[in-house]
Amino acid sequence: MNRVAVTFAAVALGCIASTAARAQNSVTVYCGVDENWCRGMVTAFTKATGIKTEMTRQSAGEIYARLRAEKDNPRGDIWWGGTGDPHLQAAEEGLSEEYHSPNLNKLTPWAQKQAERSHYRTVGLYLGALGYGYNSEELARRKMTPPACWADLIKPEYKGEVQIADPNSSGTSWTTLATLVQLMGEDEGFAFLKKLHANVNEYTKSGAAPAQAAGRGETLVGIAFQHDVIDVAKHGNPVVVVSPCEGTGYEIGSMSLIKGAKHPEEAKKFYEFALSAEAQAIAPSFGSYQFPSNASVPIPKEAPDLSKVKLIDYDFAKYGSSAVRTRLLGKWTAEVKSLPR
Ligand code: F6P
Repeated sequence: MNRVAVTFAAVALGCIASTAARAQNSVTVYCGVDENWCRGMVTAFTKATGIKTEMTRQSAGEIYARLRAEKDNPRGDIWWGGTGDPHLQAAEEGLSEEYHSPNLNKLTPWAQKQAERSHYRTVGLYLGALGYGYNSEELARRKMTPPACWADLIKPEYKGEVQIADPNSSGTSWTTLATLVQLMGEDEGFAFLKKLHANVNEYTKSGAAPAQAAGRGETLVGIAFQHDVIDVAKHGNPVVVVSPCEGTGYEIGSMSLIKGAKHPEEAKKFYEFALSAEAQAIAPSFGSYQFPSNASVPIPKEAPDLSKVKLIDYDFAKYGSSAVRTRLLGKWTAEVKSLPR
């Protein structure tokens, strides 16, 4: 090799090495919470560790479908946030990596239980109660009695006035479907969903969108997690949060390391950061009022008063299983969504 060729080779090698180093010091996050919190979290992580992040926000069902599609060539490193059921389904299918965090003992019992039931392929990050919000100005204008129960939402006066996400894409909506089936039994739950369908004006992709639409008065009622309704109300919108009188389900928002990730070490650093008190304490500053899983983090003052919420004994093992998800979503799409409105 002459001197020019040697110099060229050395420069080329240097470039490859520095590209590798850059790639090493980065992590790709599939984010399942509210976009603002996603951005706040990755910014805080980069500031704390110097590790660069790439982040995309999607709904829980979409991220789960993505993991399945990318199974042979994973592009993401960590799935942070989103309802826990699809995390459990991914765990069952071997799409996530087993990991025992040294910080598990700092978490609440429900967060540790989520890790146990997934054989340590996911872990609880936050807890959120399901409910709905209604636009109080619109309700008063129409001289309607405020709704208080799930049963109110299928009354004829709510025709075209209820919004909810599609359970195929949204974790919120899957939690709603699973909640109704647990409260009423499968046959009655589906009969209810068909009546609800007659009142639905739109099935959105993301779970929080109906709460935001209720805030803008585009729908009278938006079914969503209570913390998402509270966030809309905090922005000055005339929205009232309802915790349904029959009882309601809840999510254990979760986090999983993606199997075969290209940046496993950086992903673990993100994982530990996400479990830390420092990281969880910033959620309320991004309008996220879920119950944190790190037991030393104060519950946001905006969070719903759980003593006034009738939480059901949600069966995470059953509704976090792939077979139940596939069967119930297939049934909902064929028997409910396809009905005329
Ligand atoms: O961040 C808001 C939130 O409601 C989370 O609590 C929840 O895990 C997630 O969004 C659900 O979003 P989606 O219904 O779009 O999957």
